[in-house]
Amino acid sequence: MADDVTKYLLSEDRIPTHWVNLMADLPGEPLPPLNPQTKQPAGPQDLLAIFPEQLILQEVSTEPEVEIPEEVREAYKLWRPAPLYRARRLERALDTPAHIYYKYEGGSPAGSHKPNTAVPQAYENAKAGIRRITTETGAGQWGSSLAFACGIFGLECEVFMVGSSYDQKPYRRSMMETWGATVHRSPSQLTQSGRSHAEFDTGSLGIAISEAVEIAAQNDDTNYALGSVLNHVVLHQTVIGVETIEQMGMAGEEPDVVIACVGGGSNFGGLAGPWLRRNLREGATTRFVAAEPAACPTLTKGIYAYDFGDTAGLTPLMPMYTLGHDFVPPPVHAGGLRYHGDSPLVSALVHEGLVEARAYRQSETFAAGMQFARSEGIIPAPEPTHAIRAAIDEALAAKEAGEERVILFGLSGHGHFDLSAYDAYLAGTLEDPEFSQEDMDRAVAKLPQGVPAL
Ligand SMILES: Cc1ncc(COP(=O)(O)O)c(C=O)c1O
Repeated sequence: MADDVTKYLLSEDRIPTHWVNLMADLPGEPLPPLNPQTKQPAGPQDLLAIFPEQLILQEVSTEPEVEIPEEVREAYKLWRPAPLYRARRLERALDTPAHIYYKYEGGSPAGSHKPNTAVPQAYENAKAGIRRITTETGAGQWGSSLAFACGIFGLECEVFMVGSSYDQKPYRRSMMETWGATVHRSPSQLTQSGRSHAEFDTGSLGIAISEAVEIAAQNDDTNYALGSVLNHVVLHQTVIGVETIEQMGMAGEEPDVVIACVGGGSNFGGLAGPWLRRNLREGATTRFVAAEPAACPTLTKGIYAYDFGDTAGLTPLMPMYTLGHDFVPPPVHAGGLRYHGDSPLVSALVHEGLVEARAYRQSETFAAGMQFARSEGIIPAPEPTHAIRAAIDEALAAKEAGEERVILFGLSGHGHFDLSAYDAYLAGTLEDPEFSQEDMDRAVAKLPQGVPAL
């Protein structure tokens, strides 16, 4: 019975041929990144030391669509198209009239959405004759995705892994090493940026980025790859949203609300972007919710300002919501959401009021993750439990209002390497750190000076 469909599946020939570039549809001129030394608009030249030309062109592109190279589509076949599920069991458990759909990205080799961009990034670097890529990783999802992608295109991969995750998730490291990568605990003693912190510090994404960028900037045969934040990363992730538009068509429904978690903004931008373009172009009225941790509430409590992407101040200054570039978030289990800043694109969408941001405490997200696992089966990574929390809240609000609301959320990865976090939840020892006024005052004081106010 058509009514009972649980998975909406597309065949391999439906893998998208183009990524969607929302930059083309945004109202007004995009704010440029600034050179960290001169504080003047950074041009492609400023990025050439660490990125290949093709990715820089994608970064600054204002074309509405960018063709996906054939070699990348070929590699995408390993896990794409990704299934869209109708969460019928969760709907029943919540006794809600809402229809809940989720796009599951956990079926990729690394277990999350991150290979969607790791593959095109490794491909463009290999084509440009680069020998090695350095990167940072928080939860280990991005590092493992890049390790996998570098393996496909014959590149070496060196990963700086945030100390707290390195200690909590030894098997993520094993995974990266299985795909041939070298993994360092960050802060490390290998770089000047790392040596300026205590050796066994819990670390942060900001510090790990500084370490990886430092090595790439010093070696001609080495480039750097970022797993989120930048325009080209969000661009690559739009395969998620493009597929979802076709799958929701198969289900004969349109989402009233689209939800995803936000760390640096790539899975949110990737799922929401193609849907948001329909709002901007066709007058659709879909709502968008970005879900983030209360421990690192960049979009809900951060300041909209130019700030560095890393702790040491090596990256260009980006216009974004930020908690201050040297903010070290508490070691909550959603390691991939512990980033002080956010994608300039997603930040602009929030700033323009096109996207609503919500922050959740760790224990309420795990409660949602448990309810999801017990009804739908899949054990979610701690990051997308934030999206699940928001989706459940929407479904309960629909019940309260007696509305048949259609909810679509991104399930960006599975939690098979995060079971120690589930153990802590079950044992009742999970903590709920929150961002304080003191943290806020510190962030404001540390913002770069001499840059245009936003
Ligand atoms: C499973 C998962 N979801 C979400 C994120 C957050 O990143 P982004 O905001 O770029 O999607 C991460 C980051 O590591 C992740 O591993």
